[in-house]
Order: sequence, then structure tokens, then C-alpha cells
Amino acid sequence: MLSQNLYSVRDMDKYYVTTPIYYVNDQPHIGHSYTTILADVLANYHRLLGTPTYFLTGTDEHGQKVQQAADKNGITAQEQCDQTVVRFQELWKRLEITNDDFIRTTEDRHKKIVQEVLQELFDKDEIYRAEYEGWYCVGCERFFIEKDLVDGNCPECGRKVDAIVESNYFFRMSKYQQWLIDYIETHPEFIQPDFRANETLGFLKNNELQDLCISRPKSRLAWGIELPFDSDFVTYVWFDALLNYITAIGYKTDDEMFNKWWPVNHHLIGKDILTTHTVYWPTMLKAMGVEMPKTIFAHGWWLTGRTKMSKSLGNVVNPMEMIDRYGVDAFRYFLIAEMTLGQDASFTEEAFVKRYNSDLANDLGNLASRVLGMIEKYCDGKIPQWTDSADVDRAKRDLWIPKISGTVGLVQELLPQMKLDGAIACVRGSISAANKFVADKAPWAMAKAGNQEGVDTTLYVAVECLRVCAALLYPVMPERMGKLRSALGMDNVVPQFDRLSEFGVLKPGTPIRPLEDPLFPRVELTKKEEKPVTEKTEKPTEVEGVITYDDVMNVKLRTAKILAAEKVEGADKLLKLQVEVGEEKRQLIAGIAQHYSAEEVIGKIIVIVANLKPAKIRGVESQGMLLCASVGDQLKLITVDGELPSSGAVVK
Ligand code: ME8
Ligand code: MG
Repeated sequence: MLSQNLYSVRDMDKYYVTTPIYYVNDQPHIGHSYTTILADVLANYHRLLGTPTYFLTGTDEHGQKVQQAADKNGITAQEQCDQTVVRFQELWKRLEITNDDFIRTTEDRHKKIVQEVLQELFDKDEIYRAEYEGWYCVGCERFFIEKDLVDGNCPECGRKVDAIVESNYFFRMSKYQQWLIDYIETHPEFIQPDFRANETLGFLKNNELQDLCISRPKSRLAWGIELPFDSDFVTYVWFDALLNYITAIGYKTDDEMFNKWWPVNHHLIGKDILTTHTVYWPTMLKAMGVEMPKTIFAHGWWLTGRTKMSKSLGNVVNPMEMIDRYGVDAFRYFLIAEMTLGQDASFTEEAFVKRYNSDLANDLGNLASRVLGMIEKYCDGKIPQWTDSADVDRAKRDLWIPKISGTVGLVQELLPQMKLDGAIACVRGSISAANKFVADKAPWAMAKAGNQEGVDTTLYVAVECLRVCAALLYPVMPERMGKLRSALGMDNVVPQFDRLSEFGVLKPGTPIRPLEDPLFPRVELTKKEEKPVTEKTEKPTEVEGVITYDDVMNVKLRTAKILAAEKVEGADKLLKLQVEVGEEKRQLIAGIAQHYSAEEVIGKIIVIVANLKPAKIRGVESQGMLLCASVGDQLKLITVDGELPSSGAVVK
């Protein structure tokens, strides 16, 4: 992927890193956690290097998605934001995230500047108003252009559409097309990894860039920042959201702060939002006369097994569950060690447990408990006094230089290349080498033979190795590594890079603080995840009509309680049901009206497919499918035999 060093961590004057601001229509999942942890790890490494660092994250609170979530939950859009933002903030606290600021796009400090930018661009004629004709479906509340229509009717619900003239505001993005192509081509570090830059270039070279519609009429969507020059409109959510990266650091309000941090060093994003960040954002900045970001880095997807993690598929990994089971630091470690930046990676609890046990419980945990245990036993619980001898020279030549101080250098090389998994693999190499050194030297045998000088020197070398490894992993596992450093008798649990690779930093005679519990106790895979692995489930079946265990597990069946029901107007077979699935409320459209009346079904506990992609049936949204049994023209709902304490139960 990346061959050249994009920058040197040694001569940076500052480091500013951002995550996307997440939508508040939903709970945070492992994907959101990942980008935020990645930003945190990068911020921590740069702080360790002594570089002034600023780390920004936040939430994207306007737009249709948030409005729809609010409508679905029966609350106002602002309430939706206020309720969901807490989940992000609490999760970040739990994940030891050290962001310097958290911006919400509903805050005045943001809205005010967005309006100023809009006004300025409008005054400069970078934004203009245009009217064009189209077709509007009142039922679906959607606007269509001629070619969307099916037989002249709404493509969603088939009903008649009205010709309307819709007026909107447009940003003159198209005029920057050639400039952007040139900029990307002359700035290889601008979009990373390289293949993503090629993706954007391919798009720009093969399409005529259009002007960007940056408004929404309030009559269709009112939840947004009002255009300062036309109160009938709100700002398109992306135009508002992208600006967070500069409104948060004092653009137009605090020049000193803004000039200190801008241009940003890393905009970290997932590959889903590449176009908005590499086309909309640079052209907006260009029009505003603001410097370009240094690097926009797009990482790949976390997949569940081999499928994309997504809420509608019901296969998202809840970070809180993982943290509860295995600890925050192990979770952070797995995500950073497992994903090669830029590529997709797969999350399975099996892989998690395997890596946890091998890297953390066995290698690192073992080195720590062994070395600390022997210092306790053979050295009176104090950092031993080493003797400058041929043994030490050998240890420096064979272990320290190639495997310890060498790794400190390597990590600093790999960091700007965003090869964090590689950096961690190097540290693992150091840990194994230190473990092997201890095993080969066998200080317990030296002790038995009365060779105290040998014991002291060996354990001193080993504990110095531990000091360096703990520091190199500190950005990834601050809590556990802080604890380890404190166990080594160090008062400053936050390490610094500058003296890291020197040999002889720990002071002989300093009391160590033995660990009461193992740093990383071994874990077993929880029962829930163990799938019966049989011949059949491993090989794709060839028999037509036969599905695998995995296929079955992909269908999420849940119990649901029908709270309300009514007939769908103009459709004699359809009932519109409001159901409760656990704490969630959903609307289903079911073709059962010829078999059940609305009154009859209320209160029934039924079974639904919960991860079916929502669809519009006769223009009405349906979020799932219910199960029935039918023979001939008879049809019966599938219900649950007996009472369960609540709906939302897993059907298996
Ligand atoms: O797009 N694997 O917000 P969003 C890896 N509000 N990363 C993932 C992921 C997965 N399966 N799922 C989500 C938005 N992410 C806009 C951004 S920025 C000015 C506005 C991460 O809540 C990844 O970083 O949909 C992705 O880009 C982001 O969450 C999308 O979050
Ligand atoms: Mg998204």
C-alpha cells in the first residue's frame, strides 16, 4: 500500500486529528467505536512523542435521518439528539477516549459559523438559487425527476404525482472539478490509502461534476440550520456537518486557535463517506479560501464474519458487551491489532478470544507476571542492581538493540504510514524475544546455584524490556499499561518517547508494586458464540433448497406485541400494525386483512422477521414481516404458546 513516509513524527509542530461526527439516529456500534479508538491511539502516540495534539469528535444532529428516527420514537428531533448523544459520550468515556472537544452540530457555536459561511459564499456568488421542474408524490413526501417515474406515476407507491416547480440553492461545485483533479494528483498524501485517491480521481475524470444542492425547503424538512438569506430553507446536512472540523477550532471566532491547529493532519473516516470528504469538503474549503486538510484517511469496514455489519441486518457487535466480558483495553487492542488500515477486517468473538489469549494473556501477561514475581522473590521486591559485564554487552547486542530500541524506532516509522497493526506486531516480537531471553537465562536456576549477580543482571534486562513494551503499547491500552508501569515502580504512568530506547532508565533499588491480579486473565469463549461446527456447515451445500446453519442464524426472528391496528386505505388485504419489539416500536404492513379484523389482532404476541430491509408497501413504511401459516384460503398468525415477560424475545 504505502511505501513512502508521508511525514516524520520527529519534526511535527502539531497534530490535529478528527473522527466523523456520528449521526444520532442510532446507537453507537463497533464501527463508530473503531474510528474513535483509532483517532485516540494516534492522538496518544503523538502526545507521547511530545507533539502538541488536538483530537476532535462529535455528533451530526441535523437532517432527515435524525428527523425520521425522532418521528419513529414519537419525540422531537432535539429530544432525539439529546437522548442519543449521551450514549456516544458515555461510550467514549468507557473506552478511555481522550478527545479534547466534542462538537454537536446543534450547538450555537457551530450553527452561527455555518450561517456566516453560507452568507459569505452567497455574497460571493458561490451559492445561487435555481428553479427546476419535477414531480412530487404527496403520499411519500418525495421529489422525483422525470426519469424516476414509472408509467408516469410515483416509483414508490404507484400513485399519481403532481408537477411542481421546486426551488433550491446550489453551491458552484462544478467549477472546481479540474482544480480538484490537479490538487489530488499533485498531493499524494491528500487522500490515503493511494487506492482511495484513485477512486476519487476515477469518479472526477469520468463524470461531469454537478453543482451541489445545499438547501432543503422547510416544507419538506424543517430540521436543519436555517439559510441566513432565505428563511424558507434549511441547510443540507452534509454542508453543515463537514464544517464542524473548523467551527470547533475557532474558525472566524478565534484566529489564534484556528491557525494553531488548521490544516488538520488526519481526517479519519470510513470508506462510506469518501466522496463527501474528498469532493464536497475540499471544494467548499477552496471556495471559502481555506487551506486543504493534509490527509483524509479512509479505513475499511468491520464485518461480522464475512458480511457487512449493519443495523438492518441485526448483526452489529455491541461494544459494551465486549467491554463487559473482556475489558476495555483488550477491546481496543484487538481492533487496532486486527485491522490493516485501509482494508476490511472481520470481527468474530472466536478471533478475539484467540488473540487475547495468545498476545495478551500468554505473551505480555506472562512476561509481566514472571519478571515481577521473580524480582519479588529473588531481589527483595526492588529493581535489581545490574553489573556492567560481558553478559550485559551480549544482551544489548542480541536483545536490546535489535528487538527493543530497534522497535522504538520502527514504531515511529510505521506510525506515519498508518501501519498500526504492523507496529503492534513489532512490539509482540519484542515481548517474545524478552520471554525467550528469560527462559534461556533461567534466573531461577542461577538463584539455586547462588549466582545472585547473574539473577540481578538478567532480571534488570528483562524489566527494562518490559518498561519499553509497556510504553509502546500505552497508547493502545492506557489503563493496563499505566498499571504495569506503576507496578515497575514508575511514578509517571504516562510514558515519553524521548528516553525510551536508552538502556538503564529504571533506578536500581526502587521498590516494585506487585500486581494483585493478572493483567490479562485467560478467558474462555462464552457458550453463546460456539456454533456447532459440522461437516455440513463448513462446506457450502450443493443440495437445492437446503440452507446452512449460518443462513438460518442470519434471519432474526423476534416476538412482537401488536399494540394497534388499522386498515390501509384503498387496500382491502392490508392491515397497518404498530408493534412493540422489546423496547422498540415498529410499523408493519401485513396482508392479513381478509382473515383478521383490526380489533381482533390487538394484543396478540406474534413472530416477526426483525432484520428484513424496511420497504414501502402502498407508500406506507413496513419494518419487518410477520409469520403466518396458511393452507388454501385459510390463514392463521403464528403466535407464542404462553406468556413471556416481554416482547422482543429471540425465536430459535
Ligand atoms: O456518516 N466498520 O455518520 P455515521 C468501520 N454523520 N467503520 C464504521 C462501520 C463499520 N462497519 N460503521 C460505521 C456519518 N463506521 C456522517 C458523518 S462527518 C462530517 C459526517 C464508522 O454515524 C466509519 O467511520 O453514519 C464511518 O465513516 C462512520 O462510522 C459513519 O458514521
Ligand atoms: Mg452511515
